[in-house]
Amino acid sequence: MKAVCMHETGGPEVLRVEEVDVPVPGPGQVLIRAGVAGVNFTDVMARQGVYIAADSAPRLPAILGTEVAGVVAAAGPDVPGELAGRRVIAFVRGGYAEYAIAPSDLVAELPPAADLAEATACLVQGVSAWQLLSDCGRIEPGQSVLVHSAAGGVGTLAVQLARVLGASTVIATASTPAKQQLAAELGADVVVDYTVPGWAGEVLASTGGRGADIILDAVGGDIGEQSLDCLAPFGRLVAYGVSSKRLAPFAGTQLMHKNQTVTGYWLTGRLASDSRSIAGVVTSLLRLAQAGQLRGVVKHAFPLEDAAAAHRAISDRLTVGKVVLTI
Ligand SMILES: NC(=O)c1ccc[n+]([C@@H]2O[C@H](COP(=O)([O-])OP(=O)(O)OC[C@H]3O[C@@H](n4cnc5c(N)ncnc54)[C@H](OP(=O)(O)O)[C@@H]3O)[C@@H](O)[C@H]2O)c1
Repeated sequence: MKAVCMHETGGPEVLRVEEVDVPVPGPGQVLIRAGVAGVNFTDVMARQGVYIAADSAPRLPAILGTEVAGVVAAAGPDVPGELAGRRVIAFVRGGYAEYAIAPSDLVAELPPAADLAEATACLVQGVSAWQLLSDCGRIEPGQSVLVHSAAGGVGTLAVQLARVLGASTVIATASTPAKQQLAAELGADVVVDYTVPGWAGEVLASTGGRGADIILDAVGGDIGEQSLDCLAPFGRLVAYGVSSKRLAPFAGTQLMHKNQTVTGYWLTGRLASDSRSIAGVVTSLLRLAQAGQLRGVVKHAFPLEDAAAAHRAISDRLTVGKVVLTI
């Protein structure tokens, strides 16, 4: 089969299409013939060799990619054979390929009309957006939510889900007018350009000076640090990434006066320890999508052979929503 292989970390050019053996599903696994593979910011970090936790970085040589949509081609020895032939989305290892292996408990069957690329958004980015708001942010109806990088993959879904989960005000940040417009179209009440100094003041003004009850931040650096200036008393800031490649310095004493919380989120750790709840979240997201309450935004689809171009577009901050490879 064709796969995008990586023998060393480095620039996008280290991603090369090669011919490799089709993997064989073992116990508890299924083999999926992929139609679409999702590309995530985290894949870009793994390719650059700056993965968040060195012990979880892919071992080289590697095939990147953690999510696909396609058809079950074969089931492992102890997996019910009736899964074969079903259209599914799944968390996988080695997703940038014609075939990939998934643990059978992280495979979700798709409704007949579901679009493969849009459904892929319900995996890494959709599950993250949901758990950031519900498990980490502990969102309650009537609260205000600030979603940073709102036009990105996680951001586009978090804006919509904040609304579904009862937020009173959804505030979105993004770096360009086109991205800001997309956030507004997806349901943000207030849109702020966080590249302009003083952006946190705009967030404060839009919440009557109180600040946002929940802030989702994967930028880190100055944006993460300045987010504390517009976090409400008893508010929760969820840190889940470092797109800026700079950590935000937080001191516990900064949080004391207003009884605030900074908490962290990492999907990989949850996939390893709680696959049952993750499968439940995927099912809920697919239902919301079917009911028209959640939409995966797909504007960037690259052929498998152009995985390097997909990585370049993400690094250059040129994409919005879900980025996919078509296979
Ligand atoms: N902890 C977890 O389990 C987990 C799970 C999923 C994702 N993540 C993290 O969440 C972040 C978003 O992921 P995603 O898949 O939604 O990515 P994405 O679609 O590529 O969106 C990333 C967004 O980050 C913003 N950004 C700010 N500073 C940037 C910089 N210096 N370089 C590039 N982009 C920058 C860009 O929006 P603007 O141009 O509007 O600033 C961009 O749209 C990433 O940091 C990713 O690693 C973490």
